[in-house]
Amino acid sequence: MKPILFDFFYGSKTLFTELLNSGQFEKGEVDIRRFPDGESYVRVRSQCTQRQVIILANLHHPDDKFLPLLFLCQALRDLNVKHITLISPYLPYMRQDKRFHDGECITSAQFSSILSSAIDRIVTIDPHLHRYASLSEIYNVDNLVLKADNTIAEWIKQNVNKPLIIGPDSESEQWAAATAELINCPYLVLTKERLGDRDVKISTPHAGDLTDHTPVLVDDIISTGRTMIETAKVLNAEGFGSPVCIGVHAVFSERDYNALRNSAVEKIITCNTIPHHSNGIDVAKLLLGSVAAVINPSS
Ligand code: R5P
Repeated sequence: MKPILFDFFYGSKTLFTELLNSGQFEKGEVDIRRFPDGESYVRVRSQCTQRQVIILANLHHPDDKFLPLLFLCQALRDLNVKHITLISPYLPYMRQDKRFHDGECITSAQFSSILSSAIDRIVTIDPHLHRYASLSEIYNVDNLVLKADNTIAEWIKQNVNKPLIIGPDSESEQWAAATAELINCPYLVLTKERLGDRDVKISTPHAGDLTDHTPVLVDDIISTGRTMIETAKVLNAEGFGSPVCIGVHAVFSERDYNALRNSAVEKIITCNTIPHHSNGIDVAKLLLGSVAAVINPSS
């Protein structure tokens, strides 16, 4: 029997539809709604006993969704499902990976600990691994970490003339270097100083004679957009043209997206890990290929 695939806050015409259309899954039926007092109601309608279950979850803005997700997992357990895989293409709460000030909660560890108690396996794409070397440091369930670098490299090959990949900060080196290698083009990694949520300072690139290339900024997350905006400014000052900005996860608010669009950038493209109108790089194939390897469709 095929695994049952539940849509958790993706909706139609998104990644969920693409995975479902692959024919590898049976569509799960679930009602999730809010009572007038704001509490959640969850009811699984599919026959799930002894079935493999996959929840494709859009956990952008996780605080509104986390309790309903835990309730859904518990409802599935109560129905004696065989196994719960959570596919969360964007994995939230990865950035607070350290106590920077006394009394702070290390939310990445707290979030992962609660989530690990509810599921059997997690699949995600480019989680923000900075001080953690791997997801296993904080998730104590099976995990599969996928990388969008190949998919992004393909897009760049087809859409950008003479690219120069630029990672705006040291953390982005992992994406910038891998992407440049796949394309066989040069890359630069800059340094960033974060002075506040919306205040960043980017180092001047030592670009030599590369200013005739098209700068392509590659980062895992675009949130306030300040990293990309400031990087575009320093590139401009060095004689580069306006950059193409690529983010794996379109975390930004509409206001921040518009601010980025109105800055000195050529184009903003994101992967469809979070539904957004900047989505232009499709990760469905990446997910399908890898998920099939860990889930036995015959069970
Ligand atoms: C942080 O280290 C990430 O890799 C991104 O660079 C960061 O989240 C971007 O944030 P913003 O768009 O708010 O500058």
